[in-house]
Amino acid sequence: MLKQYINFIRSVSINAIGKTGVILTTATFVTFLIFEFFHTVGVFKNAYIGLITYLAFPALFILGLILIPIGWYRHKKESGKSTQELLNQQFDTGQILPRLWGSRVMRTVFLLTLVNMAILGFASLRMLHFMDQSRFCGTACHQVMNPEWVTYQRSPHARVACVECHVGEGLDALIASKLNGLRQMYLAALNVYNRPIPTPVHQLRPARETCEKCHWPEKFLGQRLITHVNYDDDSLSTPSYTTLNVKIDAGTGGKTPGAHWHIAESNRISYTSLRDERRVITTVWQRNAAGHATIYHDKRYPSQSEEEQRVMDCIDCHNRATHIYENPQDAVDERIRAGTLDRTLPFSKKVSLDAIMHQYPDSASARTGIADHLNAFYQRDYPDVFLKKRKQIDNAIRVVQDIYAINIHPYMNITWGTYPSHLAHRQSLGCFRCHHHNMVNKDDEAIAHDCTLCHSILALDSDSPYAFLIQSDSSKTGAMQRYLKSEFFRTRF
Ligand code: HEC
Ligand code: HEC
Ligand code: HEC
Ligand code: HEC
Ligand code: HEC
Repeated sequence: MLKQYINFIRSVSINAIGKTGVILTTATFVTFLIFEFFHTVGVFKNAYIGLITYLAFPALFILGLILIPIGWYRHKKESGKSTQELLNQQFDTGQILPRLWGSRVMRTVFLLTLVNMAILGFASLRMLHFMDQSRFCGTACHQVMNPEWVTYQRSPHARVACVECHVGEGLDALIASKLNGLRQMYLAALNVYNRPIPTPVHQLRPARETCEKCHWPEKFLGQRLITHVNYDDDSLSTPSYTTLNVKIDAGTGGKTPGAHWHIAESNRISYTSLRDERRVITTVWQRNAAGHATIYHDKRYPSQSEEEQRVMDCIDCHNRATHIYENPQDAVDERIRAGTLDRTLPFSKKVSLDAIMHQYPDSASARTGIADHLNAFYQRDYPDVFLKKRKQIDNAIRVVQDIYAINIHPYMNITWGTYPSHLAHRQSLGCFRCHHHNMVNKDDEAIAHDCTLCHSILALDSDSPYAFLIQSDSSKTGAMQRYLKSEFFRTRF
């Protein structure tokens, strides 16, 4: 048996193809064993070494295995001998080990194993480290990931690596993501991927693993005061304010529950949605700590859909925590509020909004189109402003072009509203996907949806964001009013 095996190897190794096959299989097998040993004893902890061990080595091993029969077949044909003859050639078994070691093939195998280990290990590590960087994910496929890359860079998570959210923990997730990456590269190369890229992203790492590393439910305390400023379409772009006191508590320990009630330890909400898109929710299960479920169903849909139940987590509200696309109105309002867009230019809100709402065929024509729109407007309606405020107008053009470049990506078919945020009820139905009068339990009781459940509205399109303070706080009215009128306050809003 042994003799025949060695004869087989020797015969195969006579020609180049077979030799390569033998060297490949032996070298990768030995390297695999060494890597596996270090894994088991815990020297290698990095998941990427696992990726090499379990993906790259087996691939090379199989390649070697394929080459061996080809080599064997070639040798058989060239020597003209039968299989029996080849396997039973005279061979001095007493000399096997020294002969083996003395043979060029075995020396090469040994040497190549070492070289293999060093090169493969090092190159793959470098490569994988490189591929892990957000810059690679964001820019390697050029236009494909550009929208995500642009929106990511200006989000609060610009310093959190893509893989932190997009690649799950453990080897399975890593391999799945790399295989998926390969598939995507292939689709991108053939230019046959979906535009826009579909959400929800099913491979996303579970939010409780990622988000809760940095934000955890117990941290969401009490309420959050949020003011929105909205500028009018008039020549002064007059501001008005909406101030909300948003309840965000998880509601544990007897506190008033708010938005994070859904993710408190004791609650478990799951739901099904039409086509699993999470936009139109059909059935909701509310389970308490004891596991008892109350089922709510939207009356307008036939009962119980086939779709899989999804347990609600951070992403069901914060689906746009990183890739943040704006509303056109909000985008302009935000630039005026921040002072980058000059409100002293007449109709600054209206003219900017008109410019970005126009449909342009591609990004380059959008840039020139926006510049032309603003220039033409001031030249025609405000010739003296056009001459005197050249710098401000040029600056406004840049800011408006920037809004467009961040939010609109014609190449990927992304326009206003393609990826709506579910956080509130402004860009999509958001909270109202469940909180509405048609979503009822078996007793026909709807999920709560009155306007004070989630926030109290302290000012609504009002002249001052804190008008309610002036009205309610008579003793300190003087001080408060002075504050609201102060330069400090006005420059912030
Ligand atoms: C803080 C977490 C986080 C980080 C960091 C992050 N993403 Fe995302 N990403 C998300 C979430 C959440 C979604 C939307 C998931 C859903 O709705 O199913 C998403 C969606 C996407 C999508 C689908 C299209 C879309 O906008 O919905 C792509 C593509 C994507 N991300 C790529 C990237 C790239 C590239 C990076 C790094 C440059 C990155 N992501 C960084 C959380 C993150
Ligand atoms: C590596 C840490 C880290 C991870 C992981 C992370 N975040 Fe954040 N997140 C931050 C930081 C830092 C900020 C910015 C805080 C600030 O600017 O005040 C932030 C800000 C936010 C904000 C805005 C808060 C505000 O003040 O408006 C939201 C919402 C948010 N994260 C949700 C998420 C969600 C959802 C996930 C999971 C998909 C996630 N985060 C994952 C660190 C993280
Ligand atoms: C039911 C919807 C919902 C779910 C689920 C949810 N959030 Fe929130 N979250 C909100 C709302 C609403 C706000 C306040 C409004 C805003 O920030 O614009 C908020 C605010 C936040 C903030 C800012 C808090 C602050 O103190 O200012 C962070 C950070 C955050 N959420 C992270 C998370 C993380 C992490 C999860 C998952 C563990 C999560 N949220 C789950 C709705 C939700
Ligand atoms: C997937 C469905 C779903 C979505 C989406 C959803 N909720 Fe809820 N929410 C529920 C259910 C179910 C309850 C419990 C039933 C009830 O209170 O009537 C609930 C309860 C609440 C409560 C009351 C908790 C209490 O006991 O008083 C608040 C506050 C709340 N949600 C806020 C929000 C906010 C804010 C959003 C959007 C950012 C939101 N919810 C989105 C399903 C949902
Ligand atoms: C299930 C929770 C919930 C209910 C019920 C709800 N809201 Fe809201 N609402 C929110 C959240 C969350 C926000 C976002 C807060 C933020 O970040 O600005 C919001 C924002 C707003 C805003 C300011 C932003 C905007 O979209 O213009 C207004 C105004 C508003 N709500 C009015 C109402 C009114 C009126 C009702 C009753 C018909 C109502 N809301 C019911 C959760 C809710």
